[in-house]
Amino acid sequence: MVHAIVFLFILVTQVSAYRVCPKCGKTKVPYPLSTDENCGDPNYRIYCNDGVLEFMSAQGLYYKILSINPKANKLVIKPSSIEEDTCYSSDLDQGGLSLDESLPFNISTRNTVMLFNCSDNILLSPLNCSSSSFCREFEEFGEGCGCRGTLCCHFLKDSSMTSHRIRVRVGGCTAYTCVVDKHADDSIESWNFGIELQWLPPF
Ligand SMILES: *[C@@H]1O[C@H](CO)[C@@H](O)[C@H](O)[C@H]1NC(C)=O
Ligand SMILES: *[C@@H]1O[C@H](CO)[C@@H](O)[C@H](O)[C@H]1NC(C)=O
Ligand SMILES: *[C@@H]1O[C@H](CO)[C@@H](O)[C@H](O)[C@H]1NC(C)=O
Repeated sequence: MVHAIVFLFILVTQVSAYRVCPKCGKTKVPYPLSTDENCGDPNYRIYCNDGVLEFMSAQGLYYKILSINPKANKLVIKPSSIEEDTCYSSDLDQGGLSLDESLPFNISTRNTVMLFNCSDNILLSPLNCSSSSFCREFEEFGEGCGCRGTLCCHFLKDSSMTSHRIRVRVGGCTAYTCVVDKHADDSIESWNFGIELQWLPPF
């Protein structure tokens, strides 16, 4: 009997230690994601800014969280926008997206990254910069228009590459976007724009 009570007590304190964070606006914040030091697991910090869930890069820039799949330990963030009438990503000054390597998040291998306004000297890397690259389709629409006619490339962010960065820089490529789980024959209307991150489950 005493054992049972002690057991229950431990169970209750354990459960309360796993407090799930309250909703951010209308969005659920599943465990272990944490919007506050009093809930979730603080290693999985994200931010609730004015009712919008955001992820913070290593450089301190915020990226809107578009969706969360807690069963798969994944979330999707919005790629930085390309400034109107230019071919500059808005995070160009910070070198693109970088994740803090000490945190349990990385960039998943389901991301097709497109780079724009690249200089010739990057063509050696495993990029597809041919005239049939998907990036040509993006140039024809809204945000990509400022990049029309520039040298552009795409690649699958696979496990042979760094899983903590999507790099842009002046003199390399100055803009990027990213599509999650892109299939070869998808038309641009069905592209799922985003950058999928995964997290290491807590112990
Ligand atoms: C492309 O990048 C170069 C620097 O690498 C820059 O001078 C140029 O303005 C960029 N082009 C566009 C259309 O933004
Ligand atoms: C580049 O990508 C396009 C579109 O998927 C494909 O048709 C083409 O074969 C690729 N080229 C190279 C060199 O991999
Ligand atoms: C990214 O993290 C996952 C676990 O969340 C791990 O399985 C995977 O190997 C990591 N990818 C890379 C390239 O480090």
